Amino acid sequence: MGIEPKPFVKWAGGKRQLLDKLVSNLPENFNNYHEFFLGGGALYFKLYSLGLIKKAYLNDANEELINSYRVIQKNVYELIEELKKPHYINDAIAYYKIRGLIIEDKVLRAARFIYLNKTAYNGLYRVNKQGKFNVPFGKYKNPKILDEDNLIAVSEALKPAVLMAVDFSEVLKYAKKDDFAYFDPPYYPLTATANFTSYTSNDFSPKDQERLKETVDLLTVIGVKVMVSNSYTDFITQLYKNYKQVEVFAKRAISCKAESRGKVAEVVLMNW
Ligand SMILES: C[S@@+](CC[C@H](N)C(=O)[O-])C[C@H]1O[C@@H](n2cnc3c(N)ncnc32)[C@H](O)[C@@H]1O
Repeated sequence: MGIEPKPFVKWAGGKRQLLDKLVSNLPENFNNYHEFFLGGGALYFKLYSLGLIKKAYLNDANEELINSYRVIQKNVYELIEELKKPHYINDAIAYYKIRGLIIEDKVLRAARFIYLNKTAYNGLYRVNKQGKFNVPFGKYKNPKILDEDNLIAVSEALKPAVLMAVDFSEVLKYAKKDDFAYFDPPYYPLTATANFTSYTSNDFSPKDQERLKETVDLLTVIGVKVMVSNSYTDFITQLYKNYKQVEVFAKRAISCKAESRGKVAEVVLMNW
């Protein structure tokens, strides 16, 4: 028996702290699992460890992230060998050099993605309008760039998964009655300026929040069990007024501004 898999990237909005709350609110039983805003995938790895995954459809609009998942799924040992090479070191010169590379090879792209995630400022993933990763060097003391055991555990955990990089609405092509879908979209901002949604080069607008709600309504009609997390704001609680709502508190570890770190209220929405 290997170790329990956990997210291989630090991801803004990571759900690790809310896991217990999410797990205690799971549907009693379900068939396939769908997670279309995957990010670090904390809930997926937890469900896998609990033996609750038969088949999973995992998606995120961030193609570099999904490329890394696919490489871990299919080529984990090549990836590990690549990350052992001496140029993946925690040093500003190495960092900016690797950040600036244009690479085609999928294993090298995954290695770069993981390396930048571990060494970038706050573990942020942020791209500019041209889609280029633009986060500065993080100056961490001793980041674990290569966690071999976890990568192997993650690879194993991804065996029952189909991985995609499309818009969340495509969940409607795959979800069937008695499946379970969990959505953790970029949160509706708490204040107009707290607009941290640049995980991809496209922002997630209030219109997208409404589109997600329409998708959740359609899944509900089909008989899919749906859970959504979002910020505890009037906009969201109104939008989902016909759904069960549970308020939860989370400590935000990754935030653009230090002063906005602290406890924030989030809401978990359910259709059962
Ligand atoms: C809050 S994060 C997910 C956090 C994740 N559940 C975790 O535990 O780390 C939201 C994710 O949605 C993705 N995203 C943004 N717009 C999307 C879209 N239209 N369809 C699918 N994914 C999207 C982003 O790339 C980002 O990874």
